[in-house]
Amino acid sequence: MFHSKIIGIGHFVPEKVVTNHDLEKLMDTSDEWIQERTGIKERRFYDPPEKGSTAIMAYKASLIALERAKLKAKDIDAIVFATLSPDYYFPGSGVLLQHMLEMDTKPAIDIRAQCSGFIYALSVADQFIKTGMYKRILVIGSETQNLALDLTTRGRGMGVLFGDGGGAAILEATDEEGKGILSTHLHSQGEFADVLCIREPGSNKIGKSVYENMHLNHDNIHPQMDGQLVFKNAIKRMPEVTMEALAANNLTTEDIDMFLPHQANLRISQMVQKFLRLPDEKVYNNIQKYGNTTAATLPILLSDLWEQGRIKEGQLFALAAFGSGFTWASTLIRF
Ligand code: ACO
Repeated sequence: MFHSKIIGIGHFVPEKVVTNHDLEKLMDTSDEWIQERTGIKERRFYDPPEKGSTAIMAYKASLIALERAKLKAKDIDAIVFATLSPDYYFPGSGVLLQHMLEMDTKPAIDIRAQCSGFIYALSVADQFIKTGMYKRILVIGSETQNLALDLTTRGRGMGVLFGDGGGAAILEATDEEGKGILSTHLHSQGEFADVLCIREPGSNKIGKSVYENMHLNHDNIHPQMDGQLVFKNAIKRMPEVTMEALAANNLTTEDIDMFLPHQANLRISQMVQKFLRLPDEKVYNNIQKYGNTTAATLPILLSDLWEQGRIKEGQLFALAAFGSGFTWASTLIRF
């Protein structure tokens, strides 16, 4: 059986920096509130005049990942693309990226698991590589979220949290034992779907067109969240699923060289870190500069560390995520 090794990582974030002070001009909020409750100082927004989309950010991130892996797009066998903010209602963004990369008729698979999307995507790609069906897979997490946000006081509970960006990782088959993705652990609990969602456009209606009434209902077209319920579940599920991964591999928290928690709130990351008893130098957060970039968060964290030269051969990385669905997931990666 093959194992999946990450041989290249890249990320792209839009140029436009939106600070908490910029948001103060749009809504009744404060830099102090946002930093104290979430840790976020600024985020990036794809600005409409700056032509862009989820697939374009993925494309830019992919070019960097390909260059770092010393590969061309033609060397890739498949794309697995995670996003909650696709360019179209359908098809998914995967085929748009496939076309941009001129990948002939190679397959593109779309994943909808929100903040856990990147780990779900890694897991899907890993299964294809393990069985020998594909040798190299481009795994994406990319999000254009600012267009769905209500950046007025009414939407401030969600509006201050999210940012845009894209990340890409290239997985390659290896027969080296104990290297690459050691395991992935996926969970979901759909009873909480309404706790964190955007309802429109959707097919959840009787006898109405998909778009009928959608502009009349403010709450349905912007993201809605029971923040405290999500918070409570996140701080429980992320440590739990990390421990599940460690147990499955006969490892302990002491074996972890670097822990990357999904970046939804710095306080969540700190509580998860405390539960896992990890020292500061073994946890990396960048929510301060990007906000929550949902499926793009984990590949952006990885790419950030790659650029800083902080991913070393032999190191054990643990990744964990929690988000809308609810979905949650973890993976252990030996570089
Ligand atoms: N600026 C100023 N005040 C605000 C803001 C804001 N941006 N947003 C809310 N408030 C106010 C509220 O109106 C409320 O006022 P009130 O007491 O007068 O009613 C007060 O601040 C407290 O609001 P809470 O919602 O109770 O604040 P809380 O401390 O819970 O923090 C937060 C909110 C940051 C959203 C937190 O609940 C959280 O991080 N939740 C989890 C987020 C998460 O993990 N998401 C998952 C991933 S997202 C995905 O999957 C797509």
